[in-house]
Amino acid sequence: MDKAQRSKFTRIAAGIAAAAVVVLGGMYIAGSASGSVPPATVDFANISAEQKQKLFDRGLQVFRAADCAACHSSPTTGAELAGGMAMVTPMGTLYGTNISPSREHGIGKWSADDLYRAVARGMAPGRKNLYPAMPYASYHDITRADVDALWVWLQAQSAVEVANRSPEMNFPFSIRPGLALWNALERPAGGPAPEAVNTLDRGAYLVNTLGHCGECHTPRTSSFAMDLKQSLAGNVIEGAYAPDLRPKSMAARGWSERDLLQFLRTGLSPQGVMTMGMFPVLQHSSAHMEEADLKAMAAYLMQGEKPESRPPVAEAPQTSTSANGERVYLGLCAGCHGVDGQGQPHSSLRLDTNTTAMFPTPLNLVRVIREGLPERDLAHGERMQAMPGFADQLSHEDMADLVNYMRLRWGRQKGDVTPSQVADAIRSAESH
Ligand code: HEC
Ligand code: HEC
Ligand code: HEC
Repeated sequence: MDKAQRSKFTRIAAGIAAAAVVVLGGMYIAGSASGSVPPATVDFANISAEQKQKLFDRGLQVFRAADCAACHSSPTTGAELAGGMAMVTPMGTLYGTNISPSREHGIGKWSADDLYRAVARGMAPGRKNLYPAMPYASYHDITRADVDALWVWLQAQSAVEVANRSPEMNFPFSIRPGLALWNALERPAGGPAPEAVNTLDRGAYLVNTLGHCGECHTPRTSSFAMDLKQSLAGNVIEGAYAPDLRPKSMAARGWSERDLLQFLRTGLSPQGVMTMGMFPVLQHSSAHMEEADLKAMAAYLMQGEKPESRPPVAEAPQTSTSANGERVYLGLCAGCHGVDGQGQPHSSLRLDTNTTAMFPTPLNLVRVIREGLPERDLAHGERMQAMPGFADQLSHEDMADLVNYMRLRWGRQKGDVTPSQVADAIRSAESH
């Protein structure tokens, strides 16, 4: 390079660097701004006792439907606003914070505007960017009236004096201001949703905004944003498969609106029982929601699709490995789940209509069989007995044969799961 060339090169490089600084700076400002905040719907200084009670009741409903307690409760005491729940992400571990009205550790000094900025925009006071594990990408179009009611309810709870745990994120994700860049690129734009006027709109708001179902059920892009072009199309998260919830695949797995309502209300339906990441949704959220709201969610998710009809009892499959699969099933499982997968009411599930063998990945099936499930209370009086885990009793080959037997017999799937896929599923589950 001669001198003239070099100076030209330097000028171009400097130009690119300057442009990058301007772009990154602009993105930083855009991503750590929270935009204008819609005005409060309540004059908090002049509020009648009756109005306050209404706001309190609505606030509790919002808190339940938005499942705040799933992440903000204490894993040790169960106190719903105390914080401390760990969330393991590929970028490191984060902890739900104290959102009780403690002035020192919680949000006791926050205004309703502050709460709106945190919930809808991921910005805490002091221009502190929150990690998107706090699902503001879903909550972004929460109505201001819902936030105001939530604020009244939160402020009326008892303060819990527990300090927050600092996030343990890996570099470079440990640099909080870097989140501004993510926000500039990925945070959904647009203001609050209009108040729902019909059942389907209400269902959409409950599923996509408050219920943030897509945070688990929607596939992610390479920058870990929800891929909204494939909304609710199914995704592996926290070592479990959160299935495809789009109406046609739900219908193909035998769901009806009625069964879905029962599943959301009680955690149990002919299609299965809530396990893994779905169980806390029942415990903190759907078990406490009003029937009309659960119906709206079921109607929105099914979009009028009817369950596909299926043969009453599927024949046992005949492949080279299914004799071994059947031997394992009859030896370990049939005692509880029945020779034909018919189950026993209130003590074991039926497997002939269960969806777990219908999923494209064997991950959840392998996990349930290896880990078992504890005896537990579901909701509205529904209880489940324990299922033992079989991790020590099944080689990868036997597991693959058993899983293939179930997929062929009840899952309408190919019996093509290999022992090495079983090993992958175990690794993926154990990294969480
Ligand atoms: C999926 C888990 C999850 C859900 C659901 C969730 N949060 Fe969070 N929230 C978090 C995490 C994790 C943080 C900490 C983020 C960080 O450190 O940047 C957080 C942070 C916050 C903060 C900031 C606190 C502070 O001191 O900076 C507030 C306020 C908050 N959440 C309120 C709520 C409310 C209200 C709801 C329900 C409407 C809710 N969250 C639902 C995970 C969640
Ligand atoms: C001692 C009785 C018992 C045995 C033996 C047993 N199960 Fe279960 N199984 C249960 C119960 C009870 C549940 C529900 C537990 C719960 O939800 O807490 C269950 C749940 C399941 C589920 C979860 C379905 C869902 O909807 O998520 C699957 C799949 C399953 N069992 C398959 C098997 C297989 C395969 C075997 C044999 C390797 C087996 N079970 C052995 C009692 C048993
Ligand atoms: C924390 C992650 C998470 C969230 C949030 C979540 N789910 Fe799930 N969901 C799962 C996982 C994992 C499964 C598979 C295990 C099971 O069936 O319980 C599942 C299963 C389901 C199933 C059963 C589908 C089938 O065919 O068996 C339905 C229906 C469902 N979820 C609906 C919802 C709805 C509606 C919401 C929002 C209100 C929601 N989920 C929020 C993780 C999640």
